[in-house]
Amino acid sequence: MEGGNAHRAHRVTLIEGDGIGPELVAGALTVLEAVQARTGVRIDFERHEGGAGLYRREGRNLSEQSLQAVRESDALLKGPTGLPDVRRPDGTEAGSLGGVLRTGLDVYANVRPVKLLPGVESALKLRPGEVDYVIVRENTEGLYLSRGKGVGNEEAMADTLMVTRKGTERVVRFAFDLARKRSGAPGDGVRRVTCVDKSNVLASYAFFRRVFDEVGEEYPDVEKQHLYGDAAAQALVMRPRTFDVLVMENFLGDVLSDLGGGTVGGIGLCPSANVGDAHAYFEPIHGSAPDIAGQDRANPISQVLTLEMMLHYLGEEEAGEVVGRAVWRALETGALRVAANGQPEGGTRRAAQAVADAVAEA
Ligand code: IPM
Ligand code: MN
Repeated sequence: MEGGNAHRAHRVTLIEGDGIGPELVAGALTVLEAVQARTGVRIDFERHEGGAGLYRREGRNLSEQSLQAVRESDALLKGPTGLPDVRRPDGTEAGSLGGVLRTGLDVYANVRPVKLLPGVESALKLRPGEVDYVIVRENTEGLYLSRGKGVGNEEAMADTLMVTRKGTERVVRFAFDLARKRSGAPGDGVRRVTCVDKSNVLASYAFFRRVFDEVGEEYPDVEKQHLYGDAAAQALVMRPRTFDVLVMENFLGDVLSDLGGGTVGGIGLCPSANVGDAHAYFEPIHGSAPDIAGQDRANPISQVLTLEMMLHYLGEEEAGEVVGRAVWRALETGALRVAANGQPEGGTRRAAQAVADAVAEA
């Protein structure tokens, strides 16, 4: 082992989730086994149930004990949760754990890398690595603070978009600190943070921009840029190489991260980290795709790259890098091929095995 130190075993909670969740998590664990053999990294998992399946049986999507287990562990690895037909009385999806976990753990930065990998067909006709930016989505307030709190009646409904100084300062700082650790936008190598808002229309977004500008003064070495959310949607398609880190309110980040995924082969390849000062959890950015669940068709790459993000968070830099390189290599050599619809040729299990096999040479 490196430095003669045996690896400390990390304690990680595991929630497989709904729909394709269990297949994806199994795929990630196949890769992790190979990484453990190569690097000595040790993870002790404790399985808990959460999501729409549990809600249907028990009327809650996560138990208090499970939330406590997450709080006491080093991290949570989860598959996608939620099913479109399992809904709360107010019509929203009951299986989504966003409310209980994002707010409950105060994980305020939703970190969503958008990266073009080799062998993946992109609508943009760019080379691998030419798209490589991170969307930092504010995760505890914005429009989604209204989750479960919409007010109205059969004639009208309203949700409130709340932006606070504290909430904005911390997520903006997170974005600038992340930019300092990266090597800039692929197009010009410039470290750049783009603030995305609709400050031309709403006071809450104008406030977000003001706080961004204030915090930005602490980072003279990082370039600052502003974009309206609608213009950002166009720019992410037309000039993705110019982006490095983008920071934005919750709802804008939800929408634009799926748009970004659509430019790099689909959200089936997109991981995320939900990070706060005390806790973190890791999940793909997409849903549980019940239409293809249990058919060995889902792409496990999102979940495998989610594992990579978790390993880095746990301080297992080598293991994290090995996972990233193994995915790259499996795609580059054609051992793992992604079809135009985003699904892996040969199925979920075979795709995960291809990455696991690539670990040895990565
Ligand atoms: C995401 C998801 C969730 C969200 C859903 C499942 C509630 O789309 O993580 O982006 O909107 O936050
Ligand atoms: Mn989403």
